[in-house]
Amino acid sequence: MTELVHTRAELAKARAGLAGTVGVVMTMGALHPGHETLIRAARERADHVLVTIFVNPLQFGPNEDFDRYPRTLDTDLEVCRRAGADLVFAPAVADMYPDGQPTVRVNPGELGEELEGQSRPGFFHGVLTVVLKLLQLTRPDFTFFGEKDYQQLTLVRRMARDLDVPVEVVGVPTVREPDGLALSSRNRYLSADERQVALGLSAALRAGAAAAERGADAGDVLAAAHRALGATPGARLDYLVLTDPDLEPGPVAGPARLLIAAWVGGTRLIDNLAIRLAPRS
Ligand code: PAF
Repeated sequence: MTELVHTRAELAKARAGLAGTVGVVMTMGALHPGHETLIRAARERADHVLVTIFVNPLQFGPNEDFDRYPRTLDTDLEVCRRAGADLVFAPAVADMYPDGQPTVRVNPGELGEELEGQSRPGFFHGVLTVVLKLLQLTRPDFTFFGEKDYQQLTLVRRMARDLDVPVEVVGVPTVREPDGLALSSRNRYLSADERQVALGLSAALRAGAAAAERGADAGDVLAAAHRALGATPGARLDYLVLTDPDLEPGPVAGPARLLIAAWVGGTRLIDNLAIRLAPRS
């Protein structure tokens, strides 16, 4: 049985009835098998699973897709039920922000201004603020975030550490279509032709990873990724970067992260992959 609650009071009452450990999966709805994997990961780790569904206005820029972001509560509830969630919290904007836009927000620091933050000013202030509020309201032992939004996962981990939030942040690997496309709620904006173009992002990451496996250095890894992206023209590249696993600038050897963001038509897509750079002699 999956219980649906909308208000803070209902949530508090339902949460009080959950004995044992609680895992929270935060979403903006439009749930797909990637979210289902997060819920199942929570199911394996915690006694109870709580899913939040809230399209957070604070993390959308003025020209972004807040109004047209898909809202599909009925089918989302089906996914939650199937994946074994105990409780779904789907508040209205007025429940989350009863005093209007909060004047105090979480500052993500320098990393929040880079990569996604550079293209989407204020994005991570909005994300971390709502994540912290949802953590306060749900008081979980674990919270599960997809690696697909790798910068978000990194910043949530950092926030929990820096602000002593008593929760374990668990990263869950990206779920992909058989042809490599990373699952995203925004994929539903893509036409059939755009979807073909979008495959260039994961192809670029795979080409970079393959080059790294052959012993290529950082420059050659990036060059291989750029070449692969160029092979499926049509994507407007925002960034393609190689960082260390904590998103600090360029590693020369060892574990690294290759991250890409690009526009395909009117849709901005992101993806990333863990790679390992060979030791340099
Ligand atoms: O990844 C998302 O869907 C959102 O950024 C999150 C974490 C639910 C906060 O609104």
